[in-house]
Amino acid sequence: MTTETKFDAIIIGAGAAGLMAAMTAGQSGKRVLLLDHNAEPGAKILISGGGRSNFTNREAPANRFISGNPHFAKSALSRYKPADFIALVDRHGIAWHEKTLGQLFCDGSAQQIVTMLMKGCRDGGVTFRFGTGIAAVTRQSLFHVKTESGELFKAPNLVIATGGLSIPKLGATGFAYRIAEQFDLPMVKPEPALVPLTFDAPDLPLMRGLSGTPCEVVATAGKARFREAMLFTHRGLSGPAILQISSYLRPGDSFTVDLLPGANAREALLATKRTRPRIALRTALAEHLPQRLAHALAPEEQAPPIGETSDKVLSALAERVQQWRLTPEGTEGFAKAEVTRGGIDTAALSSQTMEAKDVPGLHFIGEAVDVTGWLGGYNFQWAWASGFAAGQSV
Ligand code: FDA
Repeated sequence: MTTETKFDAIIIGAGAAGLMAAMTAGQSGKRVLLLDHNAEPGAKILISGGGRSNFTNREAPANRFISGNPHFAKSALSRYKPADFIALVDRHGIAWHEKTLGQLFCDGSAQQIVTMLMKGCRDGGVTFRFGTGIAAVTRQSLFHVKTESGELFKAPNLVIATGGLSIPKLGATGFAYRIAEQFDLPMVKPEPALVPLTFDAPDLPLMRGLSGTPCEVVATAGKARFREAMLFTHRGLSGPAILQISSYLRPGDSFTVDLLPGANAREALLATKRTRPRIALRTALAEHLPQRLAHALAPEEQAPPIGETSDKVLSALAERVQQWRLTPEGTEGFAKAEVTRGGIDTAALSSQTMEAKDVPGLHFIGEAVDVTGWLGGYNFQWAWASGFAAGQSV
């Protein structure tokens, strides 16, 4: 039997953006339905930040976001700031702390963020339908959403908050992209971002041999530059610096890694050559780099005492240390990507309301949209801000 219910807004996707949109619209008196095919809301919030959720950053200027239109995110970000989310968290008595680079985490657990948003939705009278897939979306005078359990819901506003493709095992699907296609909206090709990079020969054997070794680096690609930790893995490179730079790379692009940020490797090696000519080159290098890495870069058999090593060889080694040029073979893909770059082309959306310019009432928010934040709480801030914008508009 088919039940039929009318709402002011139907929101598909009970992740960060959908929960925020539902809470905002519900609390402003709108009749809201929030649907998700997962049995529980906020799967990604729950695992974020190692279970403590890096729920925002102290500052979220638009230059921390990648988009075909770097100005698009400004409007929503300026109307719902990190301070607004911090105030919400504080009102709910959730204790938090700041880590490096302005990143804010719960002291307790990410569950507190989901509980807070669900309470906000309940206070706003939001109706939930979790654990049911969407069979069809059509538009007549209203949007019609038919669930796989046979219910039919109608509303003048439909908000698509189903996120991107990263981590399918948590429920990620290309639903938003299919709706965009159905309504003839343009797309920017979705690609894995904030993702570990994979390499093949000649770099992989060295990386594999160092698997598990962390070091602080500067990773640079064009104007993008990140000074953070890097981790060698059995397939290549990971760690925050690498995840950050991955969002800026297209297939085949190269980037450089400075393994000795803030220092001058050439001068340091030349100084050691003058003052302590008898020590081995690898020993000299290990004074500046993790030992396993220094030994990999200066293998014993090629390493006479530093005093017998020509300045040219030292310069070449220093260049390798500070301008290590790397071309990834690929990435670890959507299975390991923290986010999806690309998505619904912002040209098709209002930056004020997130509504499709050519399809009145249809909104896209969160990661489904071609706005991708840096690592560090920015993706949630975009989810909160875009969710708030749509929640106010419906
Ligand atoms: P989100 O993916 O959160 O929600 C989409 C919802 O739609 C899900 O509930 C899903 O089940 C539902 N859905 C999908 N397809 C559907 C369909 N066909 N039918 C019905 N429902 C459907 N960011 C950050 O700022 N700080 C952090 O600490 C982290 N940490 C982190 C760790 C890991 C491991 C990952 C994978 C990601 C992060 N992120 C993060 C990124 C952050 O989680 C992400 O950007 C936001 O959750 C995006 O919010 P959305 O609401 O847009 O999508």
